[in-house]
Amino acid sequence: MNTSVDIADRKSTIPADEMVRRIDAAVATIRERWSPVPRMGIILGTGLGNFTEEIAADAVIPYDEIPFFPKSTAIGHAGQLVCGTLRGLPVVTMEGRFHVYEGYPAWQITLPVRVMHALGATVMVVSNAAGAVNPEYRTGDVMAIEDHINLMGVNPLTGPTNDTLGNRFPDMSRPYDSDFIEQAQSIAREQGFGCHRGVYVALSGPNYETRAEYRFLRKIGGDVIGMSTVPEVIVAHQLGVRVLALSTVTNVCLPDALGETDGEEVVAAASSAERKLRAIVLGVTEQLKGR
Ligand code: HPA
Repeated sequence: MNTSVDIADRKSTIPADEMVRRIDAAVATIRERWSPVPRMGIILGTGLGNFTEEIAADAVIPYDEIPFFPKSTAIGHAGQLVCGTLRGLPVVTMEGRFHVYEGYPAWQITLPVRVMHALGATVMVVSNAAGAVNPEYRTGDVMAIEDHINLMGVNPLTGPTNDTLGNRFPDMSRPYDSDFIEQAQSIAREQGFGCHRGVYVALSGPNYETRAEYRFLRKIGGDVIGMSTVPEVIVAHQLGVRVLALSTVTNVCLPDALGETDGEEVVAAASSAERKLRAIVLGVTEQLKGR
């Protein structure tokens, strides 16, 4: 059986029992190399890959060795699963994630979230790079996502489902855990930097937005704009996983004074803010361990 997945495997939906089979196959392969039950799943976004230095890794598994995992094609994304402990807490970390703009269907992008949940993770921490439309934000700021608007044009929950995969119509009144947001803000305060809380608007990308789009996105209530995270959060929340999602502001998009944005600059800005993100994730981890 060929279990490798490439960009050609783009079925917009698959049967629910086939999805369950794929999750089980991925879990079985990971289990052969790593047996602890992770408390937390971490998804590292653009420019934040160095965070894995903090993890005492027991196993590092390239995505192409995990059945049915897609391959990472985005810049700044390594494409491996790092299994180990973070400050003593068992964690499973995706170094590199998948995006709608790579051509993957949303169910495929979020399969790893289902796998992390099936391994036992009850908490998910997600990071991303984002452009700010809130004029008070600055490059290098961090924001805890408090809510989102999904304008990606796709949803990871469309298609066949069953009881194992979760509720057909999950509530989305509070997908982001408010205790985590408060912890993130108080850790930031203690460490001497600010952490906004705000609304993330997800678009499919891959182009950055026009001035008219930025104006519109601010008007509808967005603080930052990005091309990821929302599919993973929808699935995590459907599964009852508590979510902390953190955005790094890599560019500020003021429609009436808009400079050009390019991918390399976004990666560089995300790396320079990594210190703040690291402090928050480590602080939240310490608090989880204490419970
Ligand atoms: N728009 C969308 N995605 C992004 C941006 C942006 O301005 N910056 C970083 N990711």
